[in-house]
Amino acid sequence: MKIAIFGTGYVGLVTGACFANVGQEITCVDIDEQKIENLKKGICPIVEKDLSARLDQGLRSGNLKFTTNFQKALEENDIIFIAVGTPTLSGSQKADLSAVFTVAREIKEFAKSSKIVVQKSTVPVGTGDLIEDVVGEKHEVVSNPEFLKEGNAVADFEYPDRVIIGTENEKTRKILAEIYRPFMRKKERLVFMSRPSAELTKVFANSMLAMRISAMNSITELAEKFGADVAEIREGIGSDPRIGFDFLFPGGATFGGSCFPKDVRALVAIMEENKIDAGIFKEVLKINYRQRQKFIFKIFDYFNKSFIGKKFAIWGLSFKPGTDDVREAASLNVVNVILDERGEAVVFDSHAMENFRREIGERDQKIIYQNDQYEALRGADALVILTDAMEFRSLNIAKIKDLMKRPLIFDGKNLHDPLEMADQGIDYHCMGRPYYSPKKE
Ligand code: UGA
Repeated sequence: MKIAIFGTGYVGLVTGACFANVGQEITCVDIDEQKIENLKKGICPIVEKDLSARLDQGLRSGNLKFTTNFQKALEENDIIFIAVGTPTLSGSQKADLSAVFTVAREIKEFAKSSKIVVQKSTVPVGTGDLIEDVVGEKHEVVSNPEFLKEGNAVADFEYPDRVIIGTENEKTRKILAEIYRPFMRKKERLVFMSRPSAELTKVFANSMLAMRISAMNSITELAEKFGADVAEIREGIGSDPRIGFDFLFPGGATFGGSCFPKDVRALVAIMEENKIDAGIFKEVLKINYRQRQKFIFKIFDYFNKSFIGKKFAIWGLSFKPGTDDVREAASLNVVNVILDERGEAVVFDSHAMENFRREIGERDQKIIYQNDQYEALRGADALVILTDAMEFRSLNIAKIKDLMKRPLIFDGKNLHDPLEMADQGIDYHCMGRPYYSPKKE
């Protein structure tokens, strides 16, 4: 069966390139002409591990095609994936579904024969029914949510923990099982369920993971007060297999990105719309926001509430390593406060400088962009670490001491051992771990 994928964001593009790589005939459709022209030449619009290689391979084999001609794509393909963006609607908590419904209307108008419409965009529960209302009964609407982590999306697609197929239609289940078969060689990981269950599973999975992070963040202050260490606590609770170790890293640079904040907000919105208490999820968002603030205040308090004339080196601008995505990244809050308080920011990131520049807007002129991680430290009053990128996980202490005014670190990702740092003469601050005065030389 021939497949068209609407939307060439990181979900659509990864899906298209990975399917093409296992021999499926794929047409990726987008309204952005420039993006499509670039993709035809193999120019990948995002930083995503192994995606360029899959893209090249797909183009060379002829399995992967790009077009803006949605009408033709709808005529020529049997399975239509919807993988367009659903950002938070401005001035609201809800997801903006307009792009999803635009595709649905195009299907209604131009898809002459019966199609399988695979809904992959993240949407609130019940959206499948609304899409069905638009496209009409001739087409079958399935929910097939994605579980791709940015920076690891190709591997997540090719070696999935599970592939959820939300439809009650046996024939459609078989067809989709077949197209996902190449990724099931090691173990069958298809999970069939109803369409609304699939929709809710997706948003709830992200909310659940976000909840774990917020739970950890919510105990950092108490831990600090009593000299407890959240890293030790994580070890202690994670070794219980019922809890596990994942997504229990607290810190001041709290969760961001295009998924967790948006999906938890959307869950709160639909619960409240249906007059259901969303308290627990509201708290997840509040804790996330408050924890970032607490981290910024920690820095501010250290400098007696004045950043005037202070120079900050910022390591890590994306919302997480391995991506150039800065959506809802801690860097935006931290740098904005530094500039508001008339401090100076020298920023470094391996991938996200351009996107950060665009996102921070005009204030960009007040920021120094430094391509060398350690050069960013020259003459700095403090180093602020905001992602857990590999290059930040071990520190060149000699360089830090040599380049900075004095060795002072605020670590928003709790990457280093506070005692070890103090022993090396670093004034090291993080969230939820004991503080030790740095050893004098
Ligand atoms: C997330 C989910 O992990 C994917 O399964 C899902 O498919 C995707 O959203 C989506 O809905 O598209 P992603 O947003 O790419 O993936 O990134 P994560 O690795 O989940 O990290 C999210 C944020 O949480 C990052 O800011 C990260 O730094 C933060 N985080 C993660 C913590 O603060 N603590 C942790 O212990 C783990």
